[in-house]
Amino acid sequence: MDQNQKKKAAAEAALEYVKSDMIVGVGTGSTVNFFIEALASKKNMIQGAVSSSDASTALLKEHGIEVFDLNEVASLDIYIDGADEITKHKHMIKGGGAALTREKIVAAVAKTFICIIDDTKHVPVLGKFPLPIEVIPLARSYVARELVKLGGDPVYRQGVVTDNGNQILDVHNLHIMEPTKLETQINQIVGVVTNGLFAQRGADIVLTGTDKGVIKE
Ligand code: 5RP
Repeated sequence: MDQNQKKKAAAEAALEYVKSDMIVGVGTGSTVNFFIEALASKKNMIQGAVSSSDASTALLKEHGIEVFDLNEVASLDIYIDGADEITKHKHMIKGGGAALTREKIVAAVAKTFICIIDDTKHVPVLGKFPLPIEVIPLARSYVARELVKLGGDPVYRQGVVTDNGNQILDVHNLHIMEPTKLETQINQIVGVVTNGLFAQRGADIVLTGTDKGVIKE
């Protein structure tokens, strides 16, 4: 199986968690795109979805799935999303698609975070994948200098504007031994909107597409 087939298998396995009348929290990325296609087969039994990005919203609507504003929704049973890296503790780096802030918000509301990935995403330690940080444009250089003090090597993701009108710094060369602590430290830098560490609210269930089928943890 190639990487896309593994992503698709993991995405389709997540359908099992979609129950009647649910509003489903939907993430962003190529794996989630496979999930949205699969979710369309259940569109008549669910109420709809809450989306974490303009791109996912467009795809959900294209498939005839109603998209609710998160403010209209009191609770969400499940949130389905991919990841760029994940550890055995289910801590993640996310934000490769620049949607980290809305992803973190929707994940915070959901009771269960179901992470759908291919098997290349498992790592012993987070940080090989550059850690995305969404920043207020005015604060970009200041935040970058503060991130250097934390031992990182921030690179401005040129030409990318997030759905919230902000910019992204990708922090290279981090070896993240204490993701929960670093998540807090980065959030305390003035001008940071969100960082891509999902450790304080990690995944609850991980579905990994492999050559031997989908493994559930
Ligand atoms: C987007 C994300 C994605 O979940 C992450 O980048 C994984 O993407 P893909 O499913 O394309 O591998 O965090 O901001």
